[in-house]
Amino acid sequence: MTLITNYKNFNMINEGINNRSVQFENRTNEHYEFISNYFKPYMSLEEFLTVDYLKVVVMRINNEIVGLTLLVTYNKKVSKVKIVYTIIKKEYRNKGLNQELLNFVFNYAKDIRYEYVIANIRESNKSSLNSFLKYGFVISRKKGVYESGEKKIRVFKKINYDSNSDEQIIEDDNAISSNEQTPTE
Ligand SMILES: CC(C)(COP(=O)(O)OP(=O)(O)OC[C@H]1O[C@@H](n2cnc3c(N)ncnc32)[C@H](O)[C@@H]1OP(=O)(O)O)[C@@H](O)C(=O)NCCC(=O)NCCS
Repeated sequence: MTLITNYKNFNMINEGINNRSVQFENRTNEHYEFISNYFKPYMSLEEFLTVDYLKVVVMRINNEIVGLTLLVTYNKKVSKVKIVYTIIKKEYRNKGLNQELLNFVFNYAKDIRYEYVIANIRESNKSSLNSFLKYGFVISRKKGVYESGEKKIRVFKKINYDSNSDEQIIEDDNAISSNEQTPTE
């Protein structure tokens, strides 16, 4: 396991679960297996291991994977870190661990001076939507549809470089907004 980055300013917020770590890791079969246990993987193992654009953030407790986030970065008109997938192991859900993964992703996005973190969420996936909104993401006005026909909810959060303080965990309880500027794909 290769440690690529371990953000010094990353603070664990969940006091109840000990021995946690969050870090970037080079892609391995173990990550693919973890994803496959929860979802039909969206790419083959070979592709997962070889594509150059995917970044993997891994949360471990006592060395066991309990959470994983897949990221891609875009730097065209607007620079964005996109969360492609994020998964918390079933027995660890609703304990704030995704908030910690999001916090790590924000520290990374800030580190590379990007403007937005974005994600697409299925309309039926209320727990995911709530988890992102709780962190301060807002719903974009831009609509989309998955191949299955299900509505795609696009969420985004602009990175604030105005203050020197670290990203706050919860910025806005009333996160749904129709007035926010939407980053274009
Ligand atoms: C979506 C997911 C990553 C969230 O991770 P998590 O660690 O459970 O989320 P957190 O504990 O950080 O977030 C807590 C908030 O999420 C929301 N939430 C979590 N589970 C929920 C549930 N079952 N029902 C409704 N809201 C839920 C709540 O708003 C909660 O805050 P609250 O307790 O103050 O109300 C996790 O549920 C998961 O792995 N789901 C399966 C994979 C998936 O759907 N991934 C998302 C693809 S975009």
